[in-house]
Amino acid sequence: MTFIAHISDFHIGGSDFSEDVFFNNVDKVNDLDPDFIIFTGDFTNHGYYAEYVKAVEYIKFFKSTFFSIPGNHDARNLGYETFQKLIGERSWARKISSTNHSNHKIKNDDALKIKHKLRDKEDIKLKHMGKKSVDTNNITLVGLDSSEPDISDGSVGRSQQLWVEEILSDSYMDSAFSIVAIHHHVLPVPKTGRERNILYDAGDILKSLTDFEVNIVLSGHKHVPYLWEVENTLFATAGSFSSMKLRGSCPNSFNTYEIEEDHIKATLKQYRKEDVLFGKYKI
Ligand SMILES: [Fe+2]
Ligand SMILES: [Fe+2]
Repeated sequence: MTFIAHISDFHIGGSDFSEDVFFNNVDKVNDLDPDFIIFTGDFTNHGYYAEYVKAVEYIKFFKSTFFSIPGNHDARNLGYETFQKLIGERSWARKISSTNHSNHKIKNDDALKIKHKLRDKEDIKLKHMGKKSVDTNNITLVGLDSSEPDISDGSVGRSQQLWVEEILSDSYMDSAFSIVAIHHHVLPVPKTGRERNILYDAGDILKSLTDFEVNIVLSGHKHVPYLWEVENTLFATAGSFSSMKLRGSCPNSFNTYEIEEDHIKATLKQYRKEDVLFGKYKI
């Protein structure tokens, strides 16, 4: 079994950031001792250098392996450069084996060697092969940067889309369990009002992710947790870990996923509230 904590939207430096909630939730994550943590963006509120410095300090409190991607707030005020300098690559891919606990970086150079294959579903015909069987001990984890400098909307972009398709194609052929992290929601999230701050190329990305039967797509951004299952892909959005910019009575929260041989169990971990069984999905 692989156990993952999905956390999002710290908003360090914002007037709505709560240090109390942050450290309470850090303790909660550490007590759970996940195999790894995936953070889906908005470390900072304005992308300021000083906010990133604080974020780097705060990340050190997490005991598990920590993967992250930037959010739209992180790309403000040249924050997209600061992210690379202080946190790491904005887009990345890893192969994780839970049997020997290895964690290999997939070299961007290798993945970028587009093999001039047609990438259309009609060519690949993945859908017609039936639901793939996957080895849940062999995980492909991809982080996609959907942020744009100084705007709240996002996009993945054509070159990054081709890059991720190449990785997902190999992962599919290897029968690996695949996880993609992207800050902006690919699908609309209920209870978030007028649809805005969206992914410009959501339709194209939705197609790539479902064509290659990505097992879980992790997002943040709307500060509202939700799960959608579309075709064979689970789209999971996490609430905010520590920003009080919340909607209605929705508390700060994060998600966990227990990945077993034949199912994924998602749990919603809420601040000062009972855990909620968020969903159980067949693999
Ligand atoms: Fe956010
Ligand atoms: Fe955001």
